[in-house]
Order: sequence, then structure tokens, then C-alpha cells
Amino acid sequence: MLFGRNEDGAPTSRRKYKRTEQNTMANVRLNLVVAACNNRGIGVKGQLPWRLKKDMQFFKNVTTETKDPDKQNAVIMGRITYFSIPEKFRPLAKRKNIILSRELKEAPPNTSLVRSLDEAVSLATGSGELADKIEKPMESNYNCRIYLTRVLADIDCDTFFPELDENLYRKVDCEDVPTSVFTENGLDFKFEVYDKVQH
Ligand SMILES: NC(=O)c1ccc[n+]([C@@H]2O[C@H](COP(=O)([O-])OP(=O)(O)OC[C@H]3O[C@@H](n4cnc5c(N)ncnc54)[C@H](OP(=O)(O)O)[C@@H]3O)[C@@H](O)[C@H]2O)c1
Repeated sequence: MLFGRNEDGAPTSRRKYKRTEQNTMANVRLNLVVAACNNRGIGVKGQLPWRLKKDMQFFKNVTTETKDPDKQNAVIMGRITYFSIPEKFRPLAKRKNIILSRELKEAPPNTSLVRSLDEAVSLATGSGELADKIEKPMESNYNCRIYLTRVLADIDCDTFFPELDENLYRKVDCEDVPTSVFTENGLDFKFEVYDKVQH
């Protein structure tokens, strides 16, 4: 899942965006939060292939925490991911839930429905441009950080994360992110953070 905010943690108003368009878009950072196993699998039959409480907590922390306590992060997710969240936990609390779908007719209660990633980013930051591909964030002009939980096993999956392009992304140390290997339900996993290389 993706979540985004401006560098200062604050979405900008639509009017302000028009005046400082380039500045604002350059400051948008999309953070991608994903857990993938050795064979890059992330999902199976519309669900997560594993149950890792610590990773769920990590996802919650990283998507909920804001610099400004009066602001919230926007979490952008595909329709299948949204409806894979148990009903009692959706929409995700204390986050602005933005759902990508071309087919849904209306937004589920207390969520926003968008037709493209750019529309999602525009909604979260107050811009108005539309574009059309969710697979783009890792290659896009958005400044993108990836929080990658590596599940150290080969697991049968039907949904996969793309190969990380090492020319585009570099692993970074992040003092808030633990470096040790954890074990839950017989699975070892560790947290990694990648930042987009600035060319
Ligand atoms: N391991 C992890 O960290 C992690 C994280 C999230 C999800 N998952 C797993 O991944 C699987 C779901 O992923 P998925 O890729 O199959 O589905 P998904 O991305 O959650 O949902 C796909 C749907 O989202 C909409 N969509 C996607 N891109 C769009 C775009 N650019 N513009 C407009 N709508 C767009 C479309 O909805 P319509 O068909 O309605 O148009 C599309 O059918 C599940 O197994 C889930 O548990 C794993």
C-alpha cells in the first residue's frame, strides 16, 4: 500500500497548489509499504500469505504517525486490498483511506474513491491532475520511499512485488526501523527501507 504526504506532513489547499504547482509536486513523497517473501510474493487468493503481528503493527505505525498530530496520512490502496481488510478494521482508523478502482460505483463509507494514482495523489495534496497507472509510483517523479518487510522464505503466492531496481533505489539506515531478524509463526522476517536515488 502507498501513503503520501508533503515533506512537512501537511496537505496543501487546492488554491495554494495552483500558485506553487511545481514546488508542491516536487515535495510530494509517496511511501510504499509492503511485505514480500524471497520469491517476491505479497498475496495469495486476495489475502496476505502470512500472519505477522509485528509487521501489521509496523504497517500501522508507519502509516499512522504524522509530524503534525492534527494531520493524517492518506493510505492509497487497490480495491482488492481494501476489501481484504477485515470489515471491523476498515476503513483503516486515523488514516484517510483512498481506494483505487475503475469499477466501483461509489466509495465505501468514510473513504475516497479515485480512478488513478495521480488522482489519488492530487486528492491527498490538493492538486487536480489525472493520470492512469498505479504501477508507476516506483518509476515516477514522485519522491518515493519503500518500506519493505522481507519475509525470508519461499511461499506460494499469486500476487508479486516487482524487482527492486538498484539504480533507482538504495537501501538506507533508518533509526526508527529495527534491523534485527524477527520470527513469528515459524517465519523469519526483517525490515528494510529504500529511498529513491536523486539523479
Ligand atoms: N504483502 C503486502 O504488503 C500486501 C499489501 C497489499 C496487498 N497485498 C495483497 O495483494 C493482493 C491484492 O493485490 P492486487 O494487485 O491483486 O489487487 P489491488 O491492487 O489491491 O486491487 C486491484 C484493483 O484495484 C484497482 N486499480 C488498480 N490499479 C488501478 C489504477 N491505476 N487505476 C484505477 N484502479 C486501479 C482496480 O479495481 P477495479 O477492478 O475495481 O477497477 C483493480 O482491479 C491481496 O492478496 C492482498 O492481500 C499484500
